[in-house]
Amino acid sequence: MAAGVRPLTERPAWNALRRHYEEMRSVHLRALFSGDPRRGERYTAEAAGLYLDYSKHRVTDETVRLLVALAEESDLPARIDAMFRGDKINVTEHRAVLHVALRTPRGRSIVVDGEDVVPQVHAVLDRMADFATRVRDGRWTGHTGKRIRNVVNIGIGGSDLGPVMAYEALRHYSARDMTFRFVSNVDGTDFAEATRDLDPAETLFIVSSKTFTTLETMTNARSAREWTLHAVGDERAVARHFVAVSTNAAEVGKFGIDTANMFGFWDWVGGRYSMDSAIGLSTVMAIGPEHFRAMLAGFHAMDEHFRSAPFDRNLPVLLGLLSVWYRDFFGAQTLGVMPYEQYLKRFPAYLQQLTMESNGKHVTLDGAAVDYDTGPIVWGEPGTNGQHSFYQLIHQGTTLVPCDFIAFHRTLNPLGRHHDLLLANVLAQAEALAFGKTAEEVRAEGTPEPLVPHRTFEGNRPTSMILAERLTPETLGTLVALYEHSVFTQGVIWHIDSWSRRIGSRRRRRSSTRASSPPSLAACRKCTPVSSSTNSSAPRSSATRGRVPFSPPPRRRRAASTSSISSTATTTRATSRRSRPPSARSSCATTRRATRR
Ligand code: F6P
Repeated sequence: MAAGVRPLTERPAWNALRRHYEEMRSVHLRALFSGDPRRGERYTAEAAGLYLDYSKHRVTDETVRLLVALAEESDLPARIDAMFRGDKINVTEHRAVLHVALRTPRGRSIVVDGEDVVPQVHAVLDRMADFATRVRDGRWTGHTGKRIRNVVNIGIGGSDLGPVMAYEALRHYSARDMTFRFVSNVDGTDFAEATRDLDPAETLFIVSSKTFTTLETMTNARSAREWTLHAVGDERAVARHFVAVSTNAAEVGKFGIDTANMFGFWDWVGGRYSMDSAIGLSTVMAIGPEHFRAMLAGFHAMDEHFRSAPFDRNLPVLLGLLSVWYRDFFGAQTLGVMPYEQYLKRFPAYLQQLTMESNGKHVTLDGAAVDYDTGPIVWGEPGTNGQHSFYQLIHQGTTLVPCDFIAFHRTLNPLGRHHDLLLANVLAQAEALAFGKTAEEVRAEGTPEPLVPHRTFEGNRPTSMILAERLTPETLGTLVALYEHSVFTQGVIWHIDSWSRRIGSRRRRRSSTRASSPPSLAACRKCTPVSSSTNSSAPRSSATRGRVPFSPPPRRRRAASTSSISSTATTTRATSRRSRPPSARSSCATTRRATRR
């Protein structure tokens, strides 16, 4: 623990907040608003084009004062400085946490291990811009000379969620004459459906993997190579149809991708913080280098705000503190994030990894078990869809669900009254959640007495309203950085390691690199303990009988064939040794060999 920082539950502000909570728990938002006519103006903050209205939170000036004191006592100012300076604050992996360097303007300097990383960042950005431009304008062609029309990103976790979210969010700005697809799941259906209507001669795969050993990604990448080679029939095609985004040049080379076609990043970029690194290659291809740079400028604007604004006007700090307030004092288990913007439909999924992989931790940085709650479950859906699905529980259920609403003053698709209705909905929901409807109000509407309890809703459900003018690449960068830094704020207060990788990921990775074919459960049983429940359900799966069924990719006949991989499975080259599943024996031998190493 940093010198002078006490364990969380011993910090004075924490204990003051505990006492304060006892006063606040029964205070209604109706009372807070009626006691302060200017509340809706006072409890707001603005930065980098984002406006945060947090007046509908169960807080007073005293709450904010104590939460800010908690941030100070938790050493947040020094931790922010340490991150921006490039200190190795990821103590469990002894790494800097420097996603902020990815959007630091040219000419600035951040030194890690004696090297200024900013010029390196810009060198990769320039290469990405150059490559994306050549693909977009047709100078980079496929092996047969055909123009690249389709880009398929293969990756998982941070190597998928950011790219797919950014593509969906910025689709309005994307090259409409190109198709972008994303494959992540090891379930072959994902690959089959993503490629079924694509012409391999016009398709470029971006294999995105920081480690280049992740089982799902490497399995999909191998299938993509076979899919391409079956159609194009020449190993040399790999060089024109595959590029890699990775930190692992050795594995990229082993896969057969020319490392000249590799875009690198660094171990100080965590997977879930990597959408603005080379992992964003598909984003640059979709929206073009200028828009990508605008997105980086948006990120940077929020970075600057985070490191310089006073905490009581600092958007990410306020969001982070509110999250701690509800999680640890009100016992709220989840945070709903509801974008009232269709283009942000994948934003909640993106935030799930960002927030839950970061702050789903049970020990402190020093390895002691925490005696308080850490990261909330984050979930959400585009707003109006949610209103006809789960909002009932938020309004009238017995669980407190704080929500972030995200909306834009102007739409990118003006269409009749749609946008007015959309905005009216988000405002009305926040209002209804805050103020509810009393039994008297329900009666005054002429509701029959037996129905009054059913139509009454308590209100006092807290929400943040995050507003921006329009969804632009810049706004998206700002929004993502807002949540990144909110996660950081929470992690610092909880004194947990927000930056380490997902538990178990290394173990999975080892198994994926040992065997070039998928492992079988039967084989693994010999060396891995399997629980009785897994044993009893396992015989239903053919994988447990020692062979993983693997259908070779179809040989393409026509550009827009509708055949799927599994249905066209036949003979051809896909039954070559490389694609054949291992027998139980050989897989286990591979594992044994690797274990000895
Ligand atoms: O699942 C853990 C994780 O390490 C994520 O943090 C990361 O985004 C994902 O796996 C993918 O890893 P890679 O980019 O190395 O394939």
